[in-house]
Amino acid sequence: MFSGKKILVGVCGGIAVYKICELVRELQRKNAIVRTMLTPDATRFVSPLTFESLTGAPAPVDLFQSYKNEIEHIELATWPDIVVVAPATATTIAKFAHGIADNLLTATFLATRKNVLIIPAMNTGMWENPATKDNIALLRSRGYTVVEPAYGRMASQREGVGVGRLPEYAVIVSHIFRNLWENKFLADVSVTITAGCTREKIDPVRFISNYASGKMGFALAEAAAAMGADVTLVHGPTHIDPPSGIKSLQVESAEAMFAATKANYPLNGVLIGAAAVSDFRPAKFSNRKLKKDEAEFSIPLVKNPDILFELKALKKKSVHVGFALETNDEIAYAKNKLKNKDLDLIVVNNPQDAGAGFSVDTNKVKILFANGEIIDVPLMNKLLLSVEILKNASTILKNQNAADGR
Ligand code: CTP
Repeated sequence: MFSGKKILVGVCGGIAVYKICELVRELQRKNAIVRTMLTPDATRFVSPLTFESLTGAPAPVDLFQSYKNEIEHIELATWPDIVVVAPATATTIAKFAHGIADNLLTATFLATRKNVLIIPAMNTGMWENPATKDNIALLRSRGYTVVEPAYGRMASQREGVGVGRLPEYAVIVSHIFRNLWENKFLADVSVTITAGCTREKIDPVRFISNYASGKMGFALAEAAAAMGADVTLVHGPTHIDPPSGIKSLQVESAEAMFAATKANYPLNGVLIGAAAVSDFRPAKFSNRKLKKDEAEFSIPLVKNPDILFELKALKKKSVHVGFALETNDEIAYAKNKLKNKDLDLIVVNNPQDAGAGFSVDTNKVKILFANGEIIDVPLMNKLLLSVEILKNASTILKNQNAADGR
């Protein structure tokens, strides 16, 4: 995800410091090159040695100690692709807002021209204090991204629950991804994505469904958000959290997915059908749990709406992207779906290929275009594949708009 990207993590003195050790690991797992710097107060919670051991690089604290004969805060200010300050305490935020450079971290902040992502964590009283609010408003007005802290149990038993916790790692990671992604080629374009499986109820305790995890659709939503799109994600029940900061609608049945997708149809935008929609549902829902009394048992099924097929009438200038999961004759079946559903492109994969299919983080696909072109995409991470798919959809949309003189 962050292959080769240089991330400088600035650590302040708050109880959430212990979570930053794991955040560093998480960023490394996503192939980032991570370095850290600490405020003197941070060292009262965790030793620099912890961060040095995790990153294999110095974790400097002292503004006046030079490293490799360079002025430390200038070297640190120019080295990274992004500076992430976490946990950002109320005091450090106040110093940032007022240009006070009295330690290595605040001096680096003032000196850097790189993107800075500020991730506050503090007790609720400090977070809600007007001084903190004003400082954050000032920083935001200058273009800095200040992430909202999460709600939940505070470190102090006395406080109970409130706003001020460090956001989940996935939320932090997605903010870093969106900040690092410079090419906003879907800026202000509406992108609606269906994702995951649907559940078709048989009785109060049983349903028909499939193995789709939602990972591909969620990766598309994450990538589209990073590219500046206005994203709506319509997804079925999943075990993973949808990306933060986008419009996300959870539905259960294919009919509900159809209604939500239609209501959020992207005009002059991009519609992506990444969901594995159940093609059939039980003809009748039984209010009572079905019993196994009979010797033989069958459930009559009726057809569900085909979301992409039904919405093709609305298509006008929007680009429609479909997926096809095929175990044999992939190209022939995909070509049929491309034509029948009036798609602009279709992404086809075979779940039997190594690294492709449900519940994994990678996929190996071919992309077929309405003009007959076929691209063979090698095995890649679902997020990077999403970037490929969205780039292609955006090119088609731009060409259509240019042809129309928009
Ligand atoms: N799709 C949809 N609504 C449905 C079924 C499928 O929008 N009721 C979309 C999927 O999200 C996908 C594409 O259509 O983008 C192809 O889905 P797939 O299940 O492979 O194809 P089907 O048309 O259902 O054909 P089959 O199951 O017979 O292969």
